[in-house]
Amino acid sequence: MADLNRIFKKSLMDLTHERHGGEIHAISSEAHEGNILDYSTNINPLISTDIFKNLLEKSLNSILLYPDSNSTTVKNALVKYFGNSLSPDNLLIGAGSMELIRLFCDMFLVEKDEVIVVHPTFTEYDWAIKRNNCKVVNAWREEKNDFLLKSEKVLEKVSSKTKIIIMCNPNNPNGALDDSKEILTIIETASEKNILVFLDEAFIEFTGEHNSFKNKINQYNNIFIARSFTKFFGLPGLRIGFGISTPEIIQYLKNGQELWPVNCIAQECAQHVLNNGTLIEKTRQLIQTEKEYLLNFLNQYPDLKIYPSDSNFFLINTRKMGITARSIKNALLQEGILIRDCSNYKGLDEFFFRISIKERESNEKLIMSLKNVLNLKIKK
Ligand SMILES: Cc1ncc(COP(=O)(O)O)c(C=O)c1O
Repeated sequence: MADLNRIFKKSLMDLTHERHGGEIHAISSEAHEGNILDYSTNINPLISTDIFKNLLEKSLNSILLYPDSNSTTVKNALVKYFGNSLSPDNLLIGAGSMELIRLFCDMFLVEKDEVIVVHPTFTEYDWAIKRNNCKVVNAWREEKNDFLLKSEKVLEKVSSKTKIIIMCNPNNPNGALDDSKEILTIIETASEKNILVFLDEAFIEFTGEHNSFKNKINQYNNIFIARSFTKFFGLPGLRIGFGISTPEIIQYLKNGQELWPVNCIAQECAQHVLNNGTLIEKTRQLIQTEKEYLLNFLNQYPDLKIYPSDSNFFLINTRKMGITARSIKNALLQEGILIRDCSNYKGLDEFFFRISIKERESNEKLIMSLKNVLNLKIKK
């Protein structure tokens, strides 16, 4: 028998992924036979498979060929979507924005580099850094500031070893857009110090395209913007996302990417949703209306702290109520509803949970169940 302990990389033996939202596969196979309302992932509820039925029939033949390794038609659709403000050379298509996070770290980091990550945030950045044997330097969004970005809290962490600063806007798990001046201050300082900025805009579409920093790539050559087809465009299972940057950075990353990162069905469906202007408009309206509807309910509980959000989800703090997120999650699960217990985010604790925003019928069910759970817990 080979001694695998001598073969595995020692530095990677402890590498693991954090727990996430979307544990729907594990849970559905248990008690609920697939009838779970998933409020733990933040995905557009209006995207249904009906949209793709005709398309998939037509494109079935494409599974017999290798996909276009450059995703040219997706790039062209994106250029059109962005009103020709970008060129295909500014775009890199990947297997979800997750592939781009990993690729970016793999291609730029050398051992002992430091990467500043602004927490609490999406937990997978740390994983991508650690698999390169580099150090995660935590900068903080503070609870007292409603988890909004403060540039000084990030820049005070810069050292001679800093290679990348990673931040997310609007941030997961709080959902608020950050002050663009704070982001710009970080980009400018980073630029002077030869530091790269990785800006994750996975949720930016919910806030409006004008909030994206994509047009800043002409001014600053140290930024990379990651975008996703998972959230607003509702295609988590297809694994497709894209990056926006200078042609130099895009080409450098492309050279390190595997040859066929995005399958043909993902490429077809991504173009299709990009061209669906009605759906895009409907989604914005739905989120706006349903957000107010949910807020109206949540605000009836003065001891619940609901953080400001510009996205399709809310971060909620139950500390004043003295009820843990885990107990709310377990109680809701009995009613067939899955929420995200956020206690494993760095900088949060057992009193934080997150819910997404869906269409009215689901939200009514959520409200009814949440009412039962909260009222019962308050009485105890
Ligand atoms: C902020 C953020 N970025 C990126 C991702 C990964 O998304 P994708 O499905 O595009 O890989 C997620 C997924 O939850 C996320 O929350």
